[in-house]
Amino acid sequence: MTTAVDTLAGALARWLPAQRWYAAKDREPREVLVERVTPLLDGDPALRHVLLLVDGERYQVLLGRRAALPAALAGAAIADTPAGVVYAATRDGELMTRLLGRLRAAPRGPVFEPEPGARVALDLPARVLPVEQSNTSLVLGDRYILKLFRRVLPGPHPDVELHRALRAAGTPHVARLLGALTVEVDGGRAALGVLQEFLPDARDGWALATADRTAFAPEAAALGRAVATVHGALADAFGPRNPAVPDLSDTADRLHRRFSALAGGIPELAPFEPALRAAFDRVRTAPGPFTLQRVHGDLHLGQALRSGGGWTIIDFEGEPGQPLAERNAPRHPLQDVATMLRSFDYAAHHGTADPDWARRVRDAFCDGYAGVLADPRDQPALLHALELDKAVYEVAYERANRPDWTAIPLGAVSRLLGAGS
Ligand SMILES: Nc1ncnc2c1ncn2[C@@H]1O[C@H](COP(=O)(O)OP(=O)(O)OP(=O)(O)O)[C@@H](O)[C@H]1O
Ligand SMILES: [Mg+2]
Repeated sequence: MTTAVDTLAGALARWLPAQRWYAAKDREPREVLVERVTPLLDGDPALRHVLLLVDGERYQVLLGRRAALPAALAGAAIADTPAGVVYAATRDGELMTRLLGRLRAAPRGPVFEPEPGARVALDLPARVLPVEQSNTSLVLGDRYILKLFRRVLPGPHPDVELHRALRAAGTPHVARLLGALTVEVDGGRAALGVLQEFLPDARDGWALATADRTAFAPEAAALGRAVATVHGALADAFGPRNPAVPDLSDTADRLHRRFSALAGGIPELAPFEPALRAAFDRVRTAPGPFTLQRVHGDLHLGQALRSGGGWTIIDFEGEPGQPLAERNAPRHPLQDVATMLRSFDYAAHHGTADPDWARRVRDAFCDGYAGVLADPRDQPALLHALELDKAVYEVAYERANRPDWTAIPLGAVSRLLGAGS
């Protein structure tokens, strides 16, 4: 099948841009190289794990092959080859049911290792989550969720590292890590995926907040407590490596750099630039002392699941578009608070706008957080700058992806600057 896969490069180049997880999705890649193929299952259907170099960036794909594709898999087809139809195997429950059990130590192939003490059933029936996100997630027997990362980056992966540390600390409010998939590349190991406990009755915070704002409000304080508890555990777990800094000039410099990188060519942001930069500069003189620590890095209502057991924070991979070194860097924990507050603002503008609700929920969240760690509102200049930073990022994102939504973050930039710090 190796030869057949090699000839697939053209078909993969046409298929990739349609995949939600493919970062450069606005254009076809110039070059797709099949770097490594590991046979996981022979016969019909067959399963191959494939590492691709797409314009020099490494991705993993799982390819199935069948002599004839059942109708339910018609949308997964990638190419017709003399040996059969090659297709996206993550859409095939039959193959995905067998995946974990096939990840043995094939030379240089992908490996699944359960966490110490975790007893993992390897043959639970797989269900593919209907929506593709930055990664591809499979539910196994309603007991586990297997998230397959698409970009393959050598080095410690925050979704694995942080979940592992939080599990070791016995932290509530995170889904228990059961194991990790890795592969050897460039002389080191790269994470391919995480296996975690699945919460079958969970609904995410965005769904809850937009379905019934009134019912969500009392949940916000509990969410604030959960986030602060996770922050406290991350500070403890990575404590010796948490740098104490005399001031936040590095943070201010970073906010300026991000603004320069994001806002260039966005005329709607130009009038706000002087006030935005002044807000970033005020961070330099915020009263300390400060400790930077590992944080979630991309926290919003969609990353908080509410279930019988309370709030669970998921997806510690940071901003997927950023390099691993950036995602693993210590930050001020208020970054996560600021991004969650921005998410409340989005929810308040979904359907009929209700800014009062956003204010109430924001206060409830901060009250909850302040019950565990320092009150985020005690650092107004920092919180303000971090909210602005996120809103600028959102303006750039919405303009590129959902122009109809640009008014929400743009309105926030204007309102936050009008309100001062
Ligand atoms: N432990 C869990 N229990 C139940 N559902 C979960 C669990 N973990 C994740 N999910 C569901 O799977 C979805 C995808 O998970 P996750 O956010 O980790 O993936 P992602 O590909 O990194 O997404 P994103 O594009 O938002 O970064 C979540 O939105 C949530 O609905
Ligand atoms: Mg993610």
